[in-house]
Amino acid sequence: RRFNRMQNQVLQLTKWIQQNQRIVFFGGAGVSTDAGIPDFRSKDGIYTKNRNKYPYEPEEMLSVSMLLNNPRLHFQFVRENMEHGDIQPAYSHRFLAALEASGKDVAVVTQNTDGLHQAAGSQNVWVLHGDNRRYCMACGKTVEKNQAQLDDEGIPRCPYCQEGIIRGNVVMFGENLDSKVVSGAIDAIAKADLLIVAGTSLNVYPAVSFIQYYPGDRFVVINKEPVVQAPGSLFIQAGISEVFQQVNETLALPVS
Ligand code: OAD
Ligand code: ZN
Repeated sequence: RRFNRMQNQVLQLTKWIQQNQRIVFFGGAGVSTDAGIPDFRSKDGIYTKNRNKYPYEPEEMLSVSMLLNNPRLHFQFVRENMEHGDIQPAYSHRFLAALEASGKDVAVVTQNTDGLHQAAGSQNVWVLHGDNRRYCMACGKTVEKNQAQLDDEGIPRCPYCQEGIIRGNVVMFGENLDSKVVSGAIDAIAKADLLIVAGTSLNVYPAVSFIQYYPGDRFVVINKEPVVQAPGSLFIQAGISEVFQQVNETLALPVS
């Protein structure tokens, strides 16, 4: 029964992809779980697994005030939870790049900072929460991951000025989104014929509020678990790569 329903839903999604030119894919951490990066709020998520494990809630551990006021604890949390080895794009990243290469106007709006859409070849990516570049908070220079030197508290320090703390170019709790990225993302969503929202629990503002700028009625949500806010949408409860693999049985795009 579930199988039949999902087949019909995938068929609907496939038709909408075929029939529409301007496609926005709005994604979250669930897009990269297939690449081996844990998400935040599902069962194995970084927040879920770290409730009551540190002196502060995991969200606070990743806030800008923790970075500034207790960098030792902040970087301990980052080291213990957010460092991944060599990560490669998953099928879903590669499918979206192939869809764009096929001639569709695809815009990816992502809450992720892992760079996997760009690595897969997507050209039009709006990174709402920043990227994986690291820089020195004192001198501003970009610092490669292997160049940072940990001091005796485990805080990464700048190899150029020997002083500053190295941070990611990410938007932390307590910081604002880049206004150019926000207007680019909203503009793409407002012009979209088809909106696909995937792998996000739709919890974090302002990012999720941008979905409201979508004017149309071809609105698809793909998530492994039910998500609250999805008025008027086609909800496919499944893995993203699995869904796109099924879509591509019809589209037959050369997914690298
Ligand atoms: P969440 O962890 O809140 O939500 C991820 C969602 O993806 C969950 O609902 C999972 O069930 C679902 N999911 C996981 N793997 C999936 C898969 N393979 N296929 C389909 N669904 C899958 O992550 P986000 O909504 O992205 O902010 O979280 C938003 C923001 O909260 C993040 O950008 C981060 C975090 O604090 C910052 O870093 C600023
Ligand atoms: Zn420096």
